[in-house]
Amino acid sequence: MSAEIMRALQPDQQRLLQAINDLANIVEPDTPGWTRRFPSGAYLRGREWLRTRMQNAGLSTRIDAAGNLLAERAGSADLPPILIGSHTDTVLGGGRYDGILGVLGAIEVAQCLDEAGVTLRHPLIVADFLAEEANDYGISCVGSRALAGNFKPEWLDRTLNGLTLADAIRAVGGTPEALGTPLASKGAVAACLELHIEQGPVLDQRGKLLAAVNGIVGIQRGTLVLQGQPDHAGTTPMELRRDALATAAVIISTLEALCRDEPQAVGTVGRLEVSPNQSNVIPGTVTLTAEIRSLDAEILEHTWQALWEAATAAAQQRGVALELLALTSTPPALAERWLVDLVHQVCRRLDDGAIVLPSGAGHDSSQLAQLAPTAMIFVPSIGGRSHCPEEATTPEHLVLGVAALAHAVVAVDQALDAEGHGQ
Ligand code: GLV
Ligand code: MN
Ligand code: MN
Repeated sequence: MSAEIMRALQPDQQRLLQAINDLANIVEPDTPGWTRRFPSGAYLRGREWLRTRMQNAGLSTRIDAAGNLLAERAGSADLPPILIGSHTDTVLGGGRYDGILGVLGAIEVAQCLDEAGVTLRHPLIVADFLAEEANDYGISCVGSRALAGNFKPEWLDRTLNGLTLADAIRAVGGTPEALGTPLASKGAVAACLELHIEQGPVLDQRGKLLAAVNGIVGIQRGTLVLQGQPDHAGTTPMELRRDALATAAVIISTLEALCRDEPQAVGTVGRLEVSPNQSNVIPGTVTLTAEIRSLDAEILEHTWQALWEAATAAAQQRGVALELLALTSTPPALAERWLVDLVHQVCRRLDDGAIVLPSGAGHDSSQLAQLAPTAMIFVPSIGGRSHCPEEATTPEHLVLGVAALAHAVVAVDQALDAEGHGQ
């Protein structure tokens, strides 16, 4: 990339911060933090705002069958597009940057390419992938899964407050009937890049400003339903109890111990429902959601297996029935070496200390990596905080991340050969 293009590619800090502020403030009423979950009214309003923002940036927009909102900038050659973007849904009580930085930063990239007079060979698509966060339908990365062909049509019948997933996809303009087959085939996309906050402490603690991401953890997540028996808490002898919560306690501490003993895995039970949830009644039913993450597929598999064996033994010992409802099973995604090296080089031009890091958070890029060479860029999260209202990144680091994305797009556009391989 010429020094002249490098100098000319300058994101507009004021415009970027204004956009982040505007979208972050479209939130669900009566929820903590900055909440905009799929398929809430706030999510739909955010989408409408975003479509206008894309159009005002001179991009032509469309919504694909999975409900992904896509905005295109033309390229000069007849080539598959480079895809850049992220998501605009949040967790309950989430922050202001997870996801939206990658989408609004991508729009800003398209605008600053225009302003710098840069024509890319490849078309550029800015994407807001539908519903990345694990939602109450029990599925994460809905839109990017569908693009990569990992969406199961039977999920469409899952229902939340009377609304099927098919209805929810239709409500954002998608065509759920078309989701039986992958929306894109290998080769239909030249490369994917996603800018994101790190959501962890490494950059902040080490005083680094940018990271090129070389891999994303795989995730095994499932709901365990424990069916014991509700009985009187005073009169039922300990050996006659079928206590679903005492069983859950063993499962939770086993998960913690397994992942403390295995430095390459982390595990969490983040959700628990207890019934009847009364102080003087033995818990009859517990539903808990457990997940394990690792960059190593074998470690992921055998740690999950060990958890399941321990859960089965704990349930049998207490006369509690145990059922597993599988949720996510996403394999680890490792980025192609040439692309990580290229993105790292670009980052080092903007911050000499830029590092290479794996991601412990899940991302749409895990799915996209199955479709095309895919890499991510991280900017620091202050104090490593994320998935909470305190999530923050300085304005300077937000802008630096967008500049790195813009430079990476130009570098990838130049590096890809006609077959879509790095040169
Ligand atoms: C998504 O943010 C995840 O890592 O769960
Ligand atoms: Mn995210
Ligand atoms: Mn998230």
